[in-house]
Parts: sequence; structure tokens; C-alpha cells
Amino acid sequence: MTSSAETRTAATVLAEAAATAGFAPSVHNTQPWRWRVSADTLELRAVPERKLLSIDPSGRLLTVSCGAALHHAVVALAALGHTAVVDRCPGEPHLLARITLGPPCEVTPAAMRRVQHLRTRRTDRRPTRDETVPAADLTALQRAVEEHDVHLHLLVDDQVYELAAAAGRAVEVEARDPFVAHELEFWKAKTLPASSLPETPVQSTVPNRDYGEHGTLPIGEGHDSFARYGVIFGHDEEPETWLRAGEALSDAWLLAAERGLGVLPLSGVVEVDVTRTALRMTLSELGYPYLVIRLGLPDLDHAGPPPTPRIPAAQLIDLP
Ligand SMILES: Cc1cc2nc3c(=O)[nH]c(=O)nc-3n(C[C@H](O)[C@H](O)[C@H](O)COP(=O)(O)O)c2cc1C
Repeated sequence: MTSSAETRTAATVLAEAAATAGFAPSVHNTQPWRWRVSADTLELRAVPERKLLSIDPSGRLLTVSCGAALHHAVVALAALGHTAVVDRCPGEPHLLARITLGPPCEVTPAAMRRVQHLRTRRTDRRPTRDETVPAADLTALQRAVEEHDVHLHLLVDDQVYELAAAAGRAVEVEARDPFVAHELEFWKAKTLPASSLPETPVQSTVPNRDYGEHGTLPIGEGHDSFARYGVIFGHDEEPETWLRAGEALSDAWLLAAERGLGVLPLSGVVEVDVTRTALRMTLSELGYPYLVIRLGLPDLDHAGPPPTPRIPAAQLIDLP
């Protein structure tokens, strides 16, 4: 235990963890969470006002995003010398988790490295470089996801083509829906700077959502041919499992960052009912797909994406 962990109050430590959780990825950078700090607990609530009503009416992606923030908070606590006890979906509407401090723990170099990766991790929409993703890294990511009681299925070639067809269809369906188009436009203007979007269309087997315009992020000439695609899935459509899927996403993403891999979530295909069902068939009905992720080695010839904006911590955290 560090001396700082000994002298700070539990509430201060929990507030710091909540602030660090603000670095978490979220669908369209909506950051749909709110934290309440009390003397000895930290509560995570979903914020319905920041739900994407047309894209994500069930709140699946909102809850996955909150799960990522929850995992970020636990990672932050470990770097502050504290274990955490997490109670998921305790029953009150919008209350997704309650964290209580467990016994103090030693701050390990690994915990410090994790919290550094949490600050520098980015969504990288550039094409990946032409190099095979090491099998050992993929296995490690699968194990990290499994620890959260959900799964990561890595698609084989035929399944990637099925995914590509479904993702293309999802882009078409969403392009025809004026409510989706309006929602994407509204949130893009608020939360996604041009510097995060590639300067020219990306050559990719599996299309990302259509952001409607190019950005300013420099990219190389590569095609995503060496990228691998995975589906995070589980056995039901319960909010608690979506929350765990978000924790798994965060865990796998931080591990990927540590190992030099880039991650790009692709949620369009799970946003549209018909393509989500097609993806479920691709998984041979092994379970319910929550999110597709592209895994690959990032382009090293250009600077990667800069940080995206975050809502100031003071607006997301209620202090005692
Ligand atoms: C549940 C979820 C779904 C996402 N879906 C997509 C997507 O379909 N396409 C995309 O380019 N980024 C997607 N993202 C990435 C977010 O846009 C990104 O996390 C956010 O803009 C913040 O940027 P950062 O990850 O670089 O911090 C998704 C992220 C999450 C957590």
C-alpha cells in the first residue's frame, strides 16, 4: 500500500477513480454515465438523456459503454492501491453498479502501466498495417473477455465475409432512416472532432458506420487485409450482461494497447435488428452479439488519432 492510499479518505479515492473513468470509450462518445460518491461507495448510473434513441433504443450500447467506464474505475482504484467490490445492477432504475472499496492492495507496476494505457488508448479508424496479428495476443484477449463471463469469438474468413455483408447492409438501412441520420449528425458535431476521422475513405473488408464526411486524420494506403474481427457475445440480452460486455471490452482494449494492438469497435451491425440477427446466425446461434471489434496492428508511419473531448468530470460526478 502506498502512503497516499493510507492518508486519503475513501471518498477522495473514489472520486479520483470516477474522474479517471471519464477516459472510457463510449458509443459515439456520448459518455452516458453519472457517478455518485458517498463516504464509502461509488455508484454508477446510466443517463437516459445521453442515450441514442434511434440507434440504440434498447440501451444495449449505452450499457456496454457504462460497463467500460465501470472497468476503468476499477483499474484506476488498483493504481490507487485499492481493490474494489462491485455489485452490478442492484435494482434501482438506472443504477448500474455500486463499487465499495475492498482491502488495500500493493500498487504493482502492471497496475500503473494499465492506468497509463487507459489515458492514451484511442479508437483508431485508420486501416491496420499489413502484418499478422500474433495468435498469442488474440488468445490473451479472448481470455481477458472470458474473465467477465462473456465471450470473444474470432471470425474465420467465411464469417468475415458474412460480417462484411451484414455491416454493409446496416450502413444502407441506417442511411435511409432520417432519425438515425439526424442523431448521428447531432452527436458527431458535439463529440467527434474531425481529427478522429480518416482524411479519405478507408479501404476495408468490413465497413464502419458512415460518418457522412471525411476528417483530417492522416492515413496510409493499406487495406485492412490483415485485420482480425471478433464478436463480443453472451447468453442473454440482460442489462447486467451488457454491462459485463463493456467491462470485457475495456479489459481487452487495455490489454491490446499494452501489446501494441489497435481496436476499433463496429456497432452498426448490432444496431439494426435484421443485421444483428444475421450476425447471430454467423455465430451459429452460440449467443447474442453485443459488439464487433476490429483488431489489428496500427499504422506506424502516421501519427495516430488525438484524444477526443470529454465532458468535464465536475459535470459527471456528484460529490458527498
Ligand atoms: C459500445 C461502443 C460502440 C462503438 N461503435 C463505434 C462504431 O461503430 N464506429 C466507430 O468508429 N467507433 C465506435 N466506437 C468508438 C467511439 O466512437 C469512441 O470510443 C469515442 O468516440 C471516444 O473516442 P476514444 O475511444 O478515442 O476515446 C464505439 C465505442 C463503444 C464503447
